[in-house]
Amino acid sequence: MMKLSLADLTALKQQHQRISMVTAYDAPSARFADAAGIDAILVGDSAAMTIFGYDQTKAITLDDMLLLARAARRGTSRALLIADMPFGSVQVSDEVTVANAIRFVKDAGVDAVKIEGAGPMLRRIRAVIDAGIPVLGHIGLTPQSADQLGGFKPQGRTAATAHRLLDDAQALERVGCVAIVLEAMPEPVAARITSALTIPTIGIGAGARCDGQVLVWHDLLGLGGVPEGHGNRVRVPKFVKQYAALGPQIVKALESYIADVQAGRFPSAEHTYSMPDDERERFEADVPPSRERR
Ligand code: KIV
Repeated sequence: MMKLSLADLTALKQQHQRISMVTAYDAPSARFADAAGIDAILVGDSAAMTIFGYDQTKAITLDDMLLLARAARRGTSRALLIADMPFGSVQVSDEVTVANAIRFVKDAGVDAVKIEGAGPMLRRIRAVIDAGIPVLGHIGLTPQSADQLGGFKPQGRTAATAHRLLDDAQALERVGCVAIVLEAMPEPVAARITSALTIPTIGIGAGARCDGQVLVWHDLLGLGGVPEGHGNRVRVPKFVKQYAALGPQIVKALESYIADVQAGRFPSAEHTYSMPDDERERFEADVPPSRERR
């Protein structure tokens, strides 16, 4: 299978074909996504929550993200691989941001990085693009600034804030972003932004009129929390469609395993190595049994 290029994303928009993207944080997940024919894999800083168990994304470090991106790279052959630049990796200066972005390319082999925000972030994004590294923008609900946005809430629900989102999207296109993630905003706003841009928009909670869609792996597969009755339930956002409920299946499989171990049903002969009878007899004659389980 031919590896996709970033130009293919723009071509998909021009051909009115929708782009599919999903997050993945390790090699097997990336391999599954790639085998399913996904267009782009995002090593999102949502890993802070889905993998590391924090309640927000700011906690994840650059080194954490690089580790996950390297793993995802090993599982990706056809899809584009994009990694989030985490909070702290883009705040200090243009130079530090570029150096951090270079690590994603050289250490993890990503095709592009994603940087949240516009306004003051535009110069950072331009610096990374000028260094030859493709950038995806991300506006709307930008989780790294959730505190300033009043929490994990939809954005652009007034004419004035919707205008600002459109301005931000156009500014991101002007500085050279290859695509923009639009997160948690009304569909008419995302639709206007999408038609105003030549680069693709990838929506999450932004309705069906974006050029593509992205979902978080754990949300899509129903892996977010432990099923009811086991405490610790995780709320799924309104915009998530769960295509499977793997969490309960995992708990059920583990419960069966525990029951088999406790009852001595596992391992059975088919999961056990044998040895030639004469070798076993010689061994057992040399070492008489003391306290063996039957
Ligand atoms: O970190 C992430 O998973 C993301 C997606 C929600 C777009 O940024």
